[in-house]
This record gives sequence, C-alpha cells and structure tokens, in this order.
Amino acid sequence: MSKNTLIAPSVLAADFANLQRDVEMINASEADWFHIDIMDGVFVPNISFGMPVLEAISRHAKKTIDVHLMIVNPDQYIKTFASLGANILTVHYEACTHLHRTLQAIKDEGMKAGVALNPHTSIDLLEDVINDIDMVCIMSVNPGFGGQSFIENTYEKVRKLKDLITRKGANTIIEIDGGVTNKNAKQLVEAGSDVLVAGSFVFKAENPTQTIANLKELTAL
Ligand code: DX5
Ligand code: ZN
Repeated sequence: MSKNTLIAPSVLAADFANLQRDVEMINASEADWFHIDIMDGVFVPNISFGMPVLEAISRHAKKTIDVHLMIVNPDQYIKTFASLGANILTVHYEACTHLHRTLQAIKDEGMKAGVALNPHTSIDLLEDVINDIDMVCIMSVNPGFGGQSFIENTYEKVRKLKDLITRKGANTIIEIDGGVTNKNAKQLVEAGSDVLVAGSFVFKAENPTQTIANLKELTAL
C-alpha cells in the first residue's frame, strides 16, 4: 500500500506584499494544505498576523486550512477561527489548562482538533487524551520563527507517538512543523509522519511549485 504524505506550505514564509500570488501558487501546486501560523507575542516571542489576514487568505485558498495557534488562552478564539475558515485548529499543549475541554470545543465548531507539542514536551503527556486528538503537531523547532534548524530528536518523538497511537487504537495523524527540507522529509515519513509543514524550504526556493512537487515525490513511500 502506498502512502500519500500531505505537504502543507507555511504561509509565514510567503511574501506578504504578494500574498494573493503566493496563495494562488499553493492552489495550483501539488500542496495539500495551507499552514497558517498565528502568534501573539506572549506564548512565543514573535507576532505573525491575525484575523484580517487569515480572512483574506481564506477568500482565495482552495485547499484545507490548517491553523496553528501559538497563543495563550486559545479557547476564547475558537469560534472566531471557525468563522474565518479554519478546517483544522491546532492549540499548544503548553497553553491549555483544560486541554480535553478545548478539544471538544474545537470539534463542536465543526473543525478537526490538533495539539502541538514544543520540543521539550514529552509524548507521554498525551497518553490519556490521544483518542480525542485528530492531529498531533510535533514541533521540530522552538515555535515563533521560520527558518530555524531542525531538531534531530524529532525522529524519536515521531516513533514514540506512532507507538502510542497504535497502542491506543487512535486515528490521530502526525504533523511535523519546523526546519523541514528534502534532507529530513523521507526519514520523517519513514518514522510515521503524515503531514509535513514547510515554510522557508518552499518559499525561499527558486521554484516553490517544483519544490513542493519534489517533496511530494520524495515522501510517497
Ligand atoms: C514556527 C512555525 C512554523 C514555521 C515553519 O513557529 O510554526 O510553521 O512557519 O517554518 P520553516 O519551515 O521555515 O521552519
Ligand atoms: Zn506552524
């Protein structure tokens, strides 16, 4: 059986002065999802963009919109992100006191519920909630900035998470976010990843469309 790995270009690395052009590039490419990074300058030491920009992207995007919230108190914005067109809403484990409740609230709005883990956060902490999570996003850099280098311990975390999902009979998929390139993509998929986010590697390339196609080919096991 062949595996179709999903590629999610991160719009954080797009040219914001040519945003519609870059959104159309993703539409016309072999990419599967739009990955949208929302930062608040509190949970992470950076601010990306907010609701009006997501609304503008949504108007043109023709593929699944995967929103990654790097914000404190994500609960207060769940309804807003649903109305802005998010299909998957990912919150950080480290930002949620009542994670189980947050996941239910996301699903109640008709979205898939994701949980992101910082590099220092152990997979073991998901033991009791994995069956409620549609997607786990393993951060392979410290969140907040594009263009950082990939943390090698990620492969081990993917294998550990894959084991947990299998052991619990969960349907959770695994996303990797940060420092993804053609050097680590295949190994990440072999370890059990289903979705690869790629920002700089796609948008800083001479030919982003071709780079996405290459990642698709490289990760089709
Ligand atoms: C980092 C963001 C990532 C980022 C990835 O905090 O969550 O989605 O855009 O960018 P690259 O692929 O450049 O590491
Ligand atoms: Zn992200």
